[in-house]
Amino acid sequence: MSSKEKHIKEVRGLKIYKKKHKTIKKLLKDTSTPEIHGDKVWFSSYLILDYLNEHKPKKKSNIMEIGAGWGILAIHCYKDFKANVIAVDADKNVFPFLDIHAKLNRAKVTNKVSRYENLKASLIAEQDLILGGDICFWNELIEPLYKLIKRAVRNGVGTIIIADPGRSPFLKLAKRCKKDFGAELLEVAMDDPYEEDGYLLIIKQ
Ligand SMILES: C[S@@+](CC[C@H](N)C(=O)[O-])C[C@H]1O[C@@H](n2cnc3c(N)ncnc32)[C@H](O)[C@@H]1O
Repeated sequence: MSSKEKHIKEVRGLKIYKKKHKTIKKLLKDTSTPEIHGDKVWFSSYLILDYLNEHKPKKKSNIMEIGAGWGILAIHCYKDFKANVIAVDADKNVFPFLDIHAKLNRAKVTNKVSRYENLKASLIAEQDLILGGDICFWNELIEPLYKLIKRAVRNGVGTIIIADPGRSPFLKLAKRCKKDFGAELLEVAMDDPYEEDGYLLIIKQ
């Protein structure tokens, strides 16, 4: 195994650079560091990958990952479900990291710099599925995400899935979505690449 391969891990068939990899080190030197925690793959995203592998979206669906960070959900959906994927993040600095992972995994992802609250209804309406891993970590994020979910429900998005380790802002969002949109809150666990548990908030219509 070359040293390059040594610092790449493979999780659920996806290749992910470790921070020690020279490609990541170079990016950290040459570009600006992500500023809103989009500086690694957060484990909640793996909980969504596991759910999607059990509940596969239709091939060629339109799928949007919000608060995408390194974008592994979008990359996975392109690779495994031949989806048309768009990755949205408020922080433009995450996209060089997303791009190198898309390249590493031979995926085509459309990038969009936007806050949740600024996404156009017309773009939301095109989506079959909206996904987000670990994106409701501050109280200030509850309202914008609630409004985005409400717009998605109104515009006929089939399924919205948000995963979280169980932080209080996420649980508050989940409570509102259960009441207003009949959302489900599932407790889930995984043991690869680490032992973790968390929650999936699933809004379906
Ligand atoms: C904890 S990271 C999770 C990244 C990725 N989903 C994952 O699981 O690895 C949160 C991400 O949400 C993005 N974010 C935070 N506030 C946002 C907002 N208001 N609108 C869009 N993206 C936001 C951050 O830039 C960051 O990439």
